[in-house]
Amino acid sequence: MDLSGADILDGGKAVRLRWSNGSAARFHAIWLRDNALDEATRDPGNGQRLISLADIPRDVAVERAEVGDASCTIGFSGGHETVFPSDWLFDKSYDRPDETRIWPEEVNLWQNGHAVHGDDLKSLRSDDRARRDWLAAVARDGVATVSGLEATSGSLEDVVRLFGHIRETNYGRWFEVRSEVNPSNLAYTNLGLQAHTDNPYRDPVPGLQILACLENTVEGGESAVVDGFAAAETLRREDPEGFEVLAAHPARFEYAGSSGVRLSAKRPIIERGPDGEVLAIRFNNRSMAAVTGVPFDAMDRWYAALRRLGEIIDAPASQVSFRLAPGEAFIVDNTRVLHARTAFSSSGSRWLQGCYADKDGLLSTLAALEAT
Ligand code: FE2
Repeated sequence: MDLSGADILDGGKAVRLRWSNGSAARFHAIWLRDNALDEATRDPGNGQRLISLADIPRDVAVERAEVGDASCTIGFSGGHETVFPSDWLFDKSYDRPDETRIWPEEVNLWQNGHAVHGDDLKSLRSDDRARRDWLAAVARDGVATVSGLEATSGSLEDVVRLFGHIRETNYGRWFEVRSEVNPSNLAYTNLGLQAHTDNPYRDPVPGLQILACLENTVEGGESAVVDGFAAAETLRREDPEGFEVLAAHPARFEYAGSSGVRLSAKRPIIERGPDGEVLAIRFNNRSMAAVTGVPFDAMDRWYAALRRLGEIIDAPASQVSFRLAPGEAFIVDNTRVLHARTAFSSSGSRWLQGCYADKDGLLSTLAALEAT
């Protein structure tokens, strides 16, 4: 977007820039100096900032603002001069009315009927565009599937290698999901598991989970996923106060199922950032500890809202179900999408392996692919 003019405001403390589409935005002198893109301010190689705030005078002012060809030259008090591309300034505008966004802009909320994006491991490895689209689906929908894995132990690492590194935990580099005698976790039984996010007792929680199937000849044992953001949005529309109470007070989660491990985290069911945007959902009844962070007067309300959120999550209208075959896997954004399984028979075998990875690595690989 081309600039059409610039006005110095308030003795140079700010500038109003006007664009050719009729829009305008104000920028502070301190912001412009701190974010200058020139070689004296940012390393031209790695883009990292070379100056600290202490290097900028407290009373820095704009003395000159000149609109040129797709750019704006700013001259500061003290003599520093820098040039900003107009598109860059347009993209970085922060002068807009206060608006509270509840859900991140890039996410697509979904319910039953959502077609989960899937691709074949071979194509994801060899075709950058296919890999980009698959990673974009994880970022947008919080879930995607992969087929064509070797049905051998550890093949789920091939999925993680598409974008990053395994996050090792007390469960190991990966963990086995099959029936065990004296299981250390209810996941290792043939019981059905209510939709949940994994490891809410970790801080931070693993951002991604991959579950890969090696054997599945049992009756039952279907997998299901639920968009926790969509479920929370349903709650918010039905009962804004209920949404608020789950976001405003911390729950507590614990795990001490194996010796030498006592994990605990105090975090809300619905976690928001400082701007009010939801960052994560934690929902795992098996791991919830006695909650003491909700005030007495709010506890009834908190339980009622949690019960309702659970009903929304359990409703068939929220769930997308599928049956994993050997060589198939799915990935979920564990800060958002819940996973479940139905109970299965004790005859036949069901063997899945699961592992965790970090979401920032996936988003980084996606951004790099998008930039090429
Ligand atoms: Fe799980």
